[in-house]
Amino acid sequence: MKPLKIAGIGYCVPETVITNDDLTKLYETSDEWIFSRTGIKERRVVSGNETAIDLGYDAAKKALDKSGFKPEDIDCIISAASAPPQLYPTLSCTLQAKLGIPNQVPAFDLTAACTGLIYALQVARGFIGAGIYKTILIVAADNNSKITNWEDRGTSILFGDGAGAMVVTESDDGIDDILSINISADGSIGQMIQTNMPSQCCPLVEQADEVGTGKIIMNGKDVYKFAVSTVPAYVEECIQKSGMKSEEIDYLIPHQANQRIIESIQNRLKYTDDKVISNIKYYGNTSAASIPIALVEGVEQGKIKLGSTAVLCGFGAGMTWGAAVVRLRKGIC
Ligand code: COA
Repeated sequence: MKPLKIAGIGYCVPETVITNDDLTKLYETSDEWIFSRTGIKERRVVSGNETAIDLGYDAAKKALDKSGFKPEDIDCIISAASAPPQLYPTLSCTLQAKLGIPNQVPAFDLTAACTGLIYALQVARGFIGAGIYKTILIVAADNNSKITNWEDRGTSILFGDGAGAMVVTESDDGIDDILSINISADGSIGQMIQTNMPSQCCPLVEQADEVGTGKIIMNGKDVYKFAVSTVPAYVEECIQKSGMKSEEIDYLIPHQANQRIIESIQNRLKYTDDKVISNIKYYGNTSAASIPIALVEGVEQGKIKLGSTAVLCGFGAGMTWGAAVVRLRKGIC
């Protein structure tokens, strides 16, 4: 396989902040309840006409800028969105036009919810590895706040909006930035997190018993149990596959779903706090965007030094999960 280089990474979050205290205006809850169970203090949400498309556009521009590639150099776009503002044209097609990436360049979305970035990276790796495409733009963008049931205090406390983007390309120095990667799914437990699209049958036939609401429905307890029982061991396996020992890897950059889930992975790897990147306190769960947001912000805040290695891991609706051990070159963000 041809080696892959991670050339640039960017992120964007909306400006509007909703704190836990703000949520007490919607239902009975408290900052103490939310923070002690999730590690979240506040989240960002889109407002007015702003959508995940705007966030994805901004993140993609930053990733392109850092990568040194121009829109005309991109020969494939993959977007990972749990619930994009429009089903079609896809986020990728819309961004192709907005960014000035040449038409005819293939552009498609994949749905793997909060694992979307790792899934997209695996697909991009296959394309680059096989020599099908050379330079791929990956965008993970979601406006979860638009599909959240704001009357459900069990789920609406968790989610926030944001976008992350990565430019990956065929490596010019023979070094592969993906040391190992694994993606998995188990549809038999898919009902743990659902978003059922509003729909109706042809008016001339019998109607379905249930019509979707388009809002997130989640069994939080089951998702929690799934995450802590599946992800830590999976991350460890992915590290073993990379040929590295967990202590040799510089950082754990996990999907930001719940601070206690992050700690369960941290404990398994026996990592000290300085090796674990967590910013869930300020952003909540931004789906597939959470890993690139944590990564770039970690660099901006001096928590991550580039020229290092990291293990990334994601999990979410599907149920899906995935992990990757990657090289973080200097200058990528
Ligand atoms: N504020 C105050 N009370 C709340 C509340 C809130 N925001 N949300 C729920 N409660 C109440 C419930 O009504 C319940 O009350 P009851 O016992 O009187 O019925 C009680 O708190 C316990 O609710 P429960 O849902 O069992 O809480 P929990 O300890 O499982 O915590 C989550 C809920 C959502 C924080 C937790 O399950 C979780 O984080 N799960 C993982 C979800 C996740 O990460 N999803 C995304 C994956 S990508």
